[in-house]
Amino acid sequence: MKKLSIALLPGDGIGMEVVPAARKVLEKSGAAAGVHLSFEQFDWGSDHYFRMGQMMPVDALERLRAHDSILLGAVGHPDIPDHITLNGMLLPIRRGFDLYVNERPAYLYAGVESPLRGYEPGAIDMVVVRENTEGEYTNVGGFVYHHLPEEVAIQTSVFTRHGCERIIRYAFDLARRRNQKRKVASITKSNAQGYGMVLWDRIFREVSAEYPDIETESLLVDAAAMNFVRRPASFDVVVASNLFGDILSDLSAIVTGSIGLAPSANLDPRRNAPSLFEPVHGSAPDIAGKGVSNPLATILAAAMMMDHLGEPEMSASIEGAVRAVLADGKVLTADLGGRSTTADVTAAVLAHLA
Ligand code: NAI
Ligand code: MG
Repeated sequence: MKKLSIALLPGDGIGMEVVPAARKVLEKSGAAAGVHLSFEQFDWGSDHYFRMGQMMPVDALERLRAHDSILLGAVGHPDIPDHITLNGMLLPIRRGFDLYVNERPAYLYAGVESPLRGYEPGAIDMVVVRENTEGEYTNVGGFVYHHLPEEVAIQTSVFTRHGCERIIRYAFDLARRRNQKRKVASITKSNAQGYGMVLWDRIFREVSAEYPDIETESLLVDAAAMNFVRRPASFDVVVASNLFGDILSDLSAIVTGSIGLAPSANLDPRRNAPSLFEPVHGSAPDIAGKGVSNPLATILAAAMMMDHLGEPEMSASIEGAVRAVLADGKVLTADLGGRSTTADVTAAVLAHLA
């Protein structure tokens, strides 16, 4: 029997609701597929910060490395500045394991209403490939005259040839693998970011020459934001910097119904380190603890995880169960216009897994 071990990091807020939901789905699906899944849960996050002054312990990466994959809920607490929670847990894992690809699919499922009129199920089907280790998220900068009246803040973006080339190449390979519209759109703002993003654009042109079978377009991020709304069905693979990919993937999530449906994979394609799977959304303090969060984004992230771990059938059956719940339309959380709880939706997915 194949054995896989999964590290669970529920984190904060609704992370503690949606990760246990996805675990139940994985357990049932694994049992049916003859895959033995073992789980180790780490209660790191804001509570750990309040107790220990750190979001996670110093040996966190070594402990995570012992697992095949990581499933994360969210980090973020209203009483801790967001740059501390993010830089204390999620970003050190992405950077420390060099998880340079953040893959964020957006698909309009049957039964889900887009806020945009006139789109059939499946008509919107795109993946935002976000650079995940450098760019605007590089932790380079500082304060001068910190907290004094003449305070100055410097924040530096770092774009490397190595970093741009590998993410752009990944996007082209993905467009081939998906074999849908066979298109890659590259998003920058090189009119205003005249160094890093000019390098990105140049590398995009170089790499695209190696993929003559893939159509390309280059868009400035403001035009891309407009076109995600104006012509979302025209996109296939979209490759963007760390910050732009983050912003655009909230947009791609909402045009396909809800951020509560959007999964995300943080990948090390070379498989030197465990990859990390998570919903796109955050800890949602406005609804946390009420048991009404949508678990489907995390369940779909778990499906992406099983695909990455070499279990495409498990992945397809989990996604199929989610599709069935959505198409059925009877058991939905409030973000999708329903009145069901996290537990109800999880039970509905489990019922369709059979
Ligand atoms: P958010 O994604 O947590 O929430 C935005 C809105 O969407 C809220 O109204 C929330 O109720 C709703 N929502 C989110 N997920 C939902 C779900 N599964 N079901 C139903 N409704 C859902 O973003 P926000 O409010 O900007 O950030 C809240 C906290 O989360 C902050 O501390 C932020 O730093 C953190 N955050 C963490 C992320 C991560 O861990 N990857 C990503 C984004 C934000
Ligand atoms: Mg985001």
